Amino acid sequence: MNNDWDFFITRFEALSKIDLKSYKRPQMERRINSFMRSVNIDNYDSFINLLNINKEVYRKFLDHITINVSEFFRNSNHWEILEKQIIPELLKDNKTLKIWSAGCSTGEEAYSLAIMCSERHISLSEPILATDIDNEVLEKADMGIYSEKAVQSMPPAYLKKYFKAEGNYYQINNNIKQMVRFQQQDLLKDNFGRGFDLILCRNVVIYFTEESKQKLYQKFCDALRPRGVLFIGSTEQIFQSRELGLQSIATFFYQKT
Ligand SMILES: C[S@@+](CC[C@H](N)C(=O)[O-])C[C@H]1O[C@@H](n2cnc3c(N)ncnc32)[C@H](O)[C@@H]1O
Repeated sequence: MNNDWDFFITRFEALSKIDLKSYKRPQMERRINSFMRSVNIDNYDSFINLLNINKEVYRKFLDHITINVSEFFRNSNHWEILEKQIIPELLKDNKTLKIWSAGCSTGEEAYSLAIMCSERHISLSEPILATDIDNEVLEKADMGIYSEKAVQSMPPAYLKKYFKAEGNYYQINNNIKQMVRFQQQDLLKDNFGRGFDLILCRNVVIYFTEESKQKLYQKFCDALRPRGVLFIGSTEQIFQSRELGLQSIATFFYQKT
């Protein structure tokens, strides 16, 4: 079985460039096996062949393992801390902010940041960088069209101000769109920019191994400017943050020391 798994992750990386070794094996294997059952396949050899020839199954499989669920202003109480405590702190050092939403999925987090900046008249030194490994979610993000369900957590005043209703859908307005730049990137493999004031990486590392998480947090720390802040997800915690050069300044917020 070990060999089967090694065979599968090697062939899958050749197909997708995604390195499953950096993800927690038991959880990943369970998700993969449940997907294989749903397409009536019981061995990795046939499964990898299917992924190679059937684009639709391949696409569904990527969705299944990457889990793209997102929300506008997800965990609104943490956004309140961001707006009232963290942003004013960051603005003491810099008048314009450089911000990155890492693992942005379909764009809700990045557009929430843009709306917050617009509301608070926060200047950006460049458009908010929003990255994800998955090109298809980035295409959706770039379109900026959301269903009624997707915008249900949006404060009604913002929905009115920043979206245009089109049938059952809501299109984000161009001013907000222009504040965000979407880009494909694998957080586990690619190089990062430098000098960010604020990095959000929320609900992305859930299946990463401890080792790949630590390496990623080190890369984020290097990408932050001194006193820059990393904002993580509500079920996450950074172990040995001090050794990485990060200090907790509020729950889910770490500052580069
Ligand atoms: C659950 S969504 C999180 C969206 C948003 N950050 C939020 O909290 O609402 C997780 C995203 O992480 C992305 N992801 C997973 N592994 C990644 C990697 N190695 N590099 C970049 N993005 C990755 C997935 O494609 C998915 O869109």
